[in-house]
Amino acid sequence: VQDAFARGGDGMFSVGSEDDEDIYHLSRRNFRLNGRVHALILLRQLTAELRRQEVQTWKKVIRVISHELNNSLAPIASLAHSGAELLRREQYERLPSALATIEERARHLEGFIRDYARFAKLPAPRLAPVEWSRFIEQLRSQVAFSADLQPADGIARIDAAQLEQTLINLLKNAHESGSSPEEVRLTVRKLPESWRIEVLDRGSGMNAAVLANALLPFYSTKRHGTGLGLALAREIAEAHGGRIALLNREGGGLCVSMVLPDR
Ligand SMILES: Nc1ncnc2c1ncn2[C@@H]1O[C@H](COP(=O)(O)OP(=O)(O)O)[C@@H](O)[C@H]1O
Ligand SMILES: [Mg+2]
Repeated sequence: VQDAFARGGDGMFSVGSEDDEDIYHLSRRNFRLNGRVHALILLRQLTAELRRQEVQTWKKVIRVISHELNNSLAPIASLAHSGAELLRREQYERLPSALATIEERARHLEGFIRDYARFAKLPAPRLAPVEWSRFIEQLRSQVAFSADLQPADGIARIDAAQLEQTLINLLKNAHESGSSPEEVRLTVRKLPESWRIEVLDRGSGMNAAVLANALLPFYSTKRHGTGLGLALAREIAEAHGGRIALLNREGGGLCVSMVLPDR
């Protein structure tokens, strides 16, 4: 407790050993009463609240995963069964389409598991010099957008693979926001000590509830969403020493802004 006070500012700290620890939040404010400054110190025990949230998160993970597994495994099982039946009746002409669907569902599952694994074991970024113009060209082969780079020939030190994954997720979100595809834009700006990268669209934007939750893992308003796109984007931005912000745009749509230090 002494350490927490000595550190200054607000923050969390835990008391006790690993099996039996309690988590507290300490916050401090000053206020004036009858002309004198007083300190208000607030200590809140958060252990139960955090456990409850942890359980909620786990339940959500399990719900999403079982839903996704089931969506693919059910058709795979039923198509394998009807495939065998078609073979037995020597009706070969419908077999290729059944096999193709089995393959498609299996590949979908593969991709889904890959995304989860990527989130769970995101390695530390490996920074290397990257030319923005080439990076953007590479990105364009995977998703459509219009780009505006200033300066046009800038070089950043980033983990290109991680940033590419992030921007693909953000640009996909922009295309899924109801925006017309021509309005999906990417801008890169040089700031004095950082780079600002923005993904812009003219879709629905976010209401207050979505804004408050969108960066949390597994939060999704989409039927088949994994809720990992923005969470992964935040992890990657922060691992680069940067940050990410969501802003509703004047005139409608969303701006996802990422600031990465230039080092
Ligand atoms: N460009 C956007 N415009 C409006 N809402 C968005 C946008 N990007 C993300 N969102 C909201 O944030 C949620 C979380 O996004 P994300 O983490 O990428 O997960 P997913 O796309 O799988 O739902 C989305 O379900 C959607 O409600
Ligand atoms: Mg997404």
